[in-house]
Amino acid sequence: MSLRDTFRRDQVFAPLRPGTRPVRPGQLDTGGKHILYMEDITVSFDGFKALNDLTLYIKPGELRCIIGPNGAGKSTLMDVITGKTRPDTGSCFFGQTMDLTRMTETEIATAGIGRKFQKPTVFPEHTALENLELAMAGPKGTWQALLQPVTGQQYDWMAQTLETVGLLAQKDQLAGALSHGQKQWLEIAMVLMQKPRLLLVDEPIAGMTRQEVERTAELLQSLAGEHSVMVVEHDMEFIRSIANTVTVLHQGSVLAEGKMQDVQNDPKVIEVYLGETG
Ligand SMILES: Nc1ncnc2c1ncn2[C@@H]1O[C@H](COP(=O)(O)OP(=O)(O)OP(=O)(O)O)[C@@H](O)[C@H]1O
Ligand SMILES: [Mg+2]
Repeated sequence: MSLRDTFRRDQVFAPLRPGTRPVRPGQLDTGGKHILYMEDITVSFDGFKALNDLTLYIKPGELRCIIGPNGAGKSTLMDVITGKTRPDTGSCFFGQTMDLTRMTETEIATAGIGRKFQKPTVFPEHTALENLELAMAGPKGTWQALLQPVTGQQYDWMAQTLETVGLLAQKDQLAGALSHGQKQWLEIAMVLMQKPRLLLVDEPIAGMTRQEVERTAELLQSLAGEHSVMVVEHDMEFIRSIANTVTVLHQGSVLAEGKMQDVQNDPKVIEVYLGETG
């Protein structure tokens, strides 16, 4: 083993490395310090590096905000984690043993990584509850799911999740009739149906009212702890209201990382990002 291997994956002790522990395939092993390990990731599109030697770690239960100018690589980062985009170089592990670069998008979703896209993709002709039923059927689920009777346990889980996102009173409303903010929360609830350990949320508050933004901040904070949550957002007031650790991306690399108050006073960050959007 090279010296580099010994010290990477964030100083993981050799006996904890893949293949050295009796872990069932497909089982998330969070025996290490982190739940997500991205090291030296590069993604090129026609020679342009959307991600450039990016290294990032996420701890179990943490709420991590990712900020950075347009084109910094934030969405590409999420694409790599979810298997939509394959990195040219670098490694991306979920827990100690799951190599995300070798898994399909469906396998990654099933393994416990959920993603909420910016545009809500709820099924408007179905009720909030039916949307969760469809989501519960999983990435391979079909409309047949609605014909199967749900068990009491499944119903409880759906109702509990609707309550978490503040939509229990709207359970029988058609999703298409919900407000924009409510649709976003319903979609978060749909992602939660798969019980993800890591939840990726890309620009959750675009188009929301101030009140909806506040509710979303509370929701994401309440989800952290039980889940690791990675949030990409441009709205600095929102980021300040939820941020614990912030990672600033610039030209596909990590420009700065740390507590919000330190990052926002970092001259490099002010120059490339906060100067414009502050
Ligand atoms: N499929 C693709 N083909 C070619 N270039 C791409 C592709 N996807 C992303 N890019 C480029 O990679 C860079 C990073 O894009 P990305 O979408 O990750 O940025 P972002 O930080 O999410 O930006 P925004 O804040 O605007 O959402 C951009 O210059 C973008 O044009
Ligand atoms: Mg983006």
